[in-house]
Amino acid sequence: MSNVAHLITGTGRLLLPEPYAGRTPWAVAVSGGTISWLGALADAPPADAPAVDLGDALVTPGLVDAHSHPVFAGDRSDEAAARLAGEPYGGGGILRTVAATRAADDEELESLVEGRLRAQLAAGTTTVECKSGYGLSIEDELRALRIVGRVAQRLPLRVVRTFLGAHAVPAEAASPEAYVSEVVEHMLPAVADEGLAAFCDVFCDRGFFSVEAAERVLRAAADRGLGLRIHADQLSRTGAAELGVRLGATSIDHLEQLDDAGIAALAGADTVATLLPGPSLVLRDRRPPARALLDAGVTVALASDANAGTFGAFGAMPLVIGLGATLLDMRIDEALAAATAGGAASLRLDATCGALRRGMTADLVAWDAAHEGAFALRLGAVRARRVLVGGQDVTPDPTAP
Ligand code: NIG
Ligand code: FE
Repeated sequence: MSNVAHLITGTGRLLLPEPYAGRTPWAVAVSGGTISWLGALADAPPADAPAVDLGDALVTPGLVDAHSHPVFAGDRSDEAAARLAGEPYGGGGILRTVAATRAADDEELESLVEGRLRAQLAAGTTTVECKSGYGLSIEDELRALRIVGRVAQRLPLRVVRTFLGAHAVPAEAASPEAYVSEVVEHMLPAVADEGLAAFCDVFCDRGFFSVEAAERVLRAAADRGLGLRIHADQLSRTGAAELGVRLGATSIDHLEQLDDAGIAALAGADTVATLLPGPSLVLRDRRPPARALLDAGVTVALASDANAGTFGAFGAMPLVIGLGATLLDMRIDEALAAATAGGAASLRLDATCGALRRGMTADLVAWDAAHEGAFALRLGAVRARRVLVGGQDVTPDPTAP
């Protein structure tokens, strides 16, 4: 057997995400950042460098957060408080965040994004999707995506960018139709030409973008080679989920208001349902029908939707897994798989990350827990003790600012 770069070893529970059932200590062999072999340490190939020993910790694949909105400035906690005191959520606060974001200079915005992504990594997220959508002008949308790109270059997480120019209609737009034309005719071509995003998303909902407008944006995005995602059936049942299926969207997100017809539409489709328990809880909204979707054979991802107005927690994926299990009636193994392999499928990265097997990148997290039941039992208070990306230890220094 030829030498591998190094081994990662442990004696604790190893989730691939299904439990490793072989002899322990187990070992994962890493070559060129990817897993070249996995099995009992006694059978492991020789290595060039000393092993990274994860002890008796629970070890899982690095978490994949397939839905987040980290590029914003300002604070809307007061709005959350007012909403909980009875004011309805119309999402109008998005424009407040847009004003604060436009007013922030590049350095300030970049440092906010970096802080949010560092919090994600510290909490065991090794792959994260980041949307624009609080700029809503060509300069501000491009700026948001460029900033994410710059931050991604200096952090070890894998970052996937999504253009969400159609998040809300900005105050200065002549009409919603005129803004959709701006997105389609100017913003999307610029994003695609500069290679600033892998995906395009639309907030298709009552008071935001109609199914027709969303279709126009998403078709234009597909023509430019972008993958499609859609904020669908969150606040009202518009049929956005069916639109996503019809257009072959990679992921259809939210789905709080989905009904049986919508579940049936998703059942036969090759699309991932990305569910977001955080905002559903904060908005005291309906829960997305996770159980029914899983029972219908749909691939489900769990993601944070960390954003400025409806769930402000960056680095909360351990909580999201716990909420999947407690609030969404998922089994804990289903919730964990949805936050790893499901998230990877939602980003079309399922051949790269989200699971531990030969050929996948060696992204692993060792938790301060012995069993995955801790994610439900401790609801958010499960900490990443060691974080490895591509086999390298990138555990953030807890004493760093
Ligand atoms: O995914 N639903 C639309 N967008 C965000 C909320 C954005 C905001 O209120 O700032 C979401 O929940
Ligand atoms: Fe969102």
